[in-house]
Amino acid sequence: MSKVHPDAGQCPVSHLTTAFGAPVPNNQDSLTAGPRGPLLAQDVWLNEKLANFVREVIPERRMHAKGSGAFGTFTVTNDISRYTRAKIFSEVGKKTEMFARFTTVAGERGAADAERDIRGFALKFYTEEGNWDLVGNNTPVFFLRDPRKFPDLNKAVKRDPRTNMRSATNNWDFWTLLPEAFHQVTIVMSDRGIPKGYRFMHGFGSHTYSFWNDAGERFWVKFHFRTQQGIENLTDAEAAALVAGDRESHQRDLYDAIERGDFPKWKLFVQIMPEKDAETYRFHPFDLTKVWYKADYPLIEVGEFELNRNPENFFADVEQSAFAPSNLVPGIGVSPDKMLQARLFNYADAQRYRLGVNYHQIPVNAARCPVMSNHRDGYGRIDGNYGSRPHYEPNSFSQWQEQPDFAEPPLRISGDAAHWNYREDDADYFTQPRKLFQQMSPEQQQALFDNTARAMGDAPDFIKQRHIDNCTRCDPAYGEGVAAALGMAVAVFADG
Ligand code: HEM
Repeated sequence: MSKVHPDAGQCPVSHLTTAFGAPVPNNQDSLTAGPRGPLLAQDVWLNEKLANFVREVIPERRMHAKGSGAFGTFTVTNDISRYTRAKIFSEVGKKTEMFARFTTVAGERGAADAERDIRGFALKFYTEEGNWDLVGNNTPVFFLRDPRKFPDLNKAVKRDPRTNMRSATNNWDFWTLLPEAFHQVTIVMSDRGIPKGYRFMHGFGSHTYSFWNDAGERFWVKFHFRTQQGIENLTDAEAAALVAGDRESHQRDLYDAIERGDFPKWKLFVQIMPEKDAETYRFHPFDLTKVWYKADYPLIEVGEFELNRNPENFFADVEQSAFAPSNLVPGIGVSPDKMLQARLFNYADAQRYRLGVNYHQIPVNAARCPVMSNHRDGYGRIDGNYGSRPHYEPNSFSQWQEQPDFAEPPLRISGDAAHWNYREDDADYFTQPRKLFQQMSPEQQQALFDNTARAMGDAPDFIKQRHIDNCTRCDPAYGEGVAAALGMAVAVFADG
């Protein structure tokens, strides 16, 4: 009788085979010419074992490489069917299976969890009309509002090409040259910049998305997920002490909570803006660096999800999971937000590279409803490839006709094609972070100053000064606080 593995349970089968099912008679000693002789090329099991070993690693995600995932259930608690025809929201009490992956962003696959960084909040809902992925963060805004700068952002926050170390100079040079990043930088440097674990943070769709209903009316929508565990954060000192003893603190916390039946929960709320309001709202409604004030568009409760099952195998379900903002379902659409528009192409593109063209067949990514796409063949096709059915459309055999009933209502778009400069259109970078700063308690403001000073580290003084200037433009007290924490002069506005 074999022993039971503490994490894996009893092994059901005790025989070792090759990948093709043949018994492996010897898994200890390589095949050699005599006891001290060289290897023989005919040791096919050794060859297979080594060949497989060097192919176990797949590319890590370009960002959000370190993460934790779990399966769960979403339940509707309030009727919002007047805004959207999406089946997931069709009736109170309805349950939909889901998968969540939470991440840090800048670190690599082996990075420590308790780092100052934004956190990814990616959700996949297996609805009866296809998978809906909401690929958000734990912050309602982002550093950028034009996707052209996204590769630069990631280069600036990741490793320096020469030193191979993270660089405060690169990071803060870039951030401070883009004043639109200031709102997000203020959040990341605040006391919420290092969540105690993934269970203790809110989630946001961040972008403006759209809903449309059975009557063909469109609404703009923002998604908010509020943790039911309460917000809990770490100070820089607490995080440093934690990382010294445990680099996987977020993974451990989430995994252990689910194993002991303490299932984490988040309530889903939406903010709804009637389509016409977008033309007159005081903030650009599709600008990812801005929020919609709750006084203007209050939170409407929708439902709750709980995570209640750890994956049996991390690689199979978490590493191979693929979330994409382009995975939409009838009743849920996008908006003209140009950041979101770029993401609609980039994620699936990254996943075809990272996982192969048939990645939609990997169980964690596979829809739970019938899939009839006419996509055939390709590397790693593991189903029957739709057998002998016609593989083109239109066809005369009633196979897989398009479904016009699910067409999104038309969206009026106009304008001259040009590289429009957002900064000329809207240079208000500071109204919203000012409000955020002024809502902070004196202790929270002091934490913001000190976290900023520590994070700026050995960045040159001219970069620090540029940030102090931006802080002062936001609120003189913010500028003074950061200047004092850095031991520098208050704003000089050398850059005008
Ligand atoms: C991951 C691109 C902005 C949240 C990724 C990946 C790419 C990417 C290529 C890796 C995908 C994969 O290999 O599976 C971009 C681009 C952006 C952008 C081009 C802007 C133009 C954002 C924003 C958010 C976000 C604004 C949140 C609101 C995430 C999350 C993941 C991710 C949560 C990890 C998903 C997972 O757990 O697998 N992004 N991103 N990204 N991104 Fe973005």
